Amino acid sequence: MAAKIEITIDGNAVSVEKDSFLLKAIENLGIKLPTLCNHKDLTPAGVCRLCVCEVDVRGKKKLVTSCNYPVRENITVQTASDTVVRHRKVVAEMYLGRWPNVPIIQKMAKMSGVTESRFQSDLTDENLKACVLCGRCVRGCREFAQEKSLILPARGSNVMSVCRFPWWIPTVSDAPHVPMSVPPVRVRSSMISMIPKIPR
Ligand code: SF4
Ligand code: FES
Repeated sequence: MAAKIEITIDGNAVSVEKDSFLLKAIENLGIKLPTLCNHKDLTPAGVCRLCVCEVDVRGKKKLVTSCNYPVRENITVQTASDTVVRHRKVVAEMYLGRWPNVPIIQKMAKMSGVTESRFQSDLTDENLKACVLCGRCVRGCREFAQEKSLILPARGSNVMSVCRFPWWIPTVSDAPHVPMSVPPVRVRSSMISMIPKIPR
């Protein structure tokens, strides 16, 4: 049985399993944080930075992404300190500036207290089904199908999730959404049962 550790989250003392991820303890308390890249069935990647929290470790405060922060010692956590709220708002604003019409981005921005963005630019993509680079389809593909068929090829203006093998895109119907620019493809039926649904 895993050892237990006492931590404090927003003033609430809770007991959590050593090495469990902080976001789970936060959610168990009924606190809802915005998350984009996290999924309960996937290894957390800490990519989107929306789930950021302020952690006090032996008197030192730092911002961490709670989804992939393993609890290993007694810590005090603030999920909505001024620093956290400021950081989260800027991140959400950047997402909203880049993908203003994608529903999940609008929802996460709203949860972060943001309804407008100062960050419109050449990168702004008004497609409401744009790939927001959360990486969940890529991780789902690797972790469940044991395939590296989907990749996020590079960081940059035209990045999106792409399939390395166009004859097999398993997530066309199962991913949260698929870039409109991905062409219709044939799905190898023997693989479909291995692909979990990854709901938003
Ligand atoms: S295609 Fe969808 S699931 Fe995959 S990275 Fe883009 S937004 Fe995320
Ligand atoms: S949900 Fe934690 S970094 Fe994306």
